[in-house]
Amino acid sequence: MIQCRWCILTTVKIISFSNQKGGTGKTTACVNTAAALVKTGERALIIDLDPQGNTTVSVGIKLKPEDLTVSEFILRGARIEDLMLDSYMADLSVIPSDTTLAHTEFELVSENKNQFFLKKAIEKNGDALASFDYILIDCPPSLSLLTVNGLCASDYVVVPVLCDYLSLEGLSHLMETVEEIKKKLNPSLEVLGILPNMIDRRLRITEESLALMKKEFGGLVFKNGINVCSRLRESPSFGKAIFDYAASSTAAEDFLAAAREIKRRVIK
Ligand SMILES: Nc1ncnc2c1ncn2[C@@H]1O[C@H](COP(=O)(O)OP(=O)(O)OP(=O)(O)O)[C@@H](O)[C@H]1O
Ligand SMILES: [Mg+2]
Repeated sequence: MIQCRWCILTTVKIISFSNQKGGTGKTTACVNTAAALVKTGERALIIDLDPQGNTTVSVGIKLKPEDLTVSEFILRGARIEDLMLDSYMADLSVIPSDTTLAHTEFELVSENKNQFFLKKAIEKNGDALASFDYILIDCPPSLSLLTVNGLCASDYVVVPVLCDYLSLEGLSHLMETVEEIKKKLNPSLEVLGILPNMIDRRLRITEESLALMKKEFGGLVFKNGINVCSRLRESPSFGKAIFDYAASSTAAEDFLAAAREIKRRVIK
């Protein structure tokens, strides 16, 4: 929830998509959940907090040299009006990222209270951000200072996870880290859910992993996971969310269901 000097806003929900393991579907889930939220009548902002800039590209944004990025937002006090870009979808805006964010992280290391720079930037821009219903943050694949900034600025975290043994190993570690951050840095952080991704019902490992996840984490596991879908893999190269690339695909259905579940889980 955003708090600013002039007003206390409790309506904007901030959700990080995080998993220290690479390639679990953080970016895919962030982009397509945001698009699904927009399809269901919400206004959404994505903050791309990954120097890879995958989210920025996935919604059709080609950065120009003069565009400001999330680095200026976090470190140099740039105003949201000056750096927010429109995506190809009405009601979906983006604070973009590029490789300079890796250097920003390096600069952050020597700063005091460096876990809270993103949170402070969001709070400072509370008025301009109040028109959004959701802010979704795409975190990088590490438990780095950038990820900690994402989690400290969030009300909730969604954890996309693959249905295999190594992903489950990493999941317990991530849940412990989130618990640590909640205890020490951001008491209002909640795990909104674990989102199984690339579900392939033909594979025994998928069924076994889903069963283990549910045994270990119970109701935290989303009912509506995301099935493996080749159209989802193609859509970023067209700069489109799945709804505008392959509207009748299973992934479009899955993400609409996941977004509805997210809306039910978020306390309005
Ligand atoms: N359900 C799915 N079906 C098919 N392909 C998928 C699915 N989910 C993700 N992918 C593909 O898997 C790859 C990794 O996904 P994505 O980039 O979203 O993961 P990530 O966790 O953000 O990666 P990183 O850790 O590098 O940030 C991408 O090529 C993406 O298109
Ligand atoms: Mg990513």
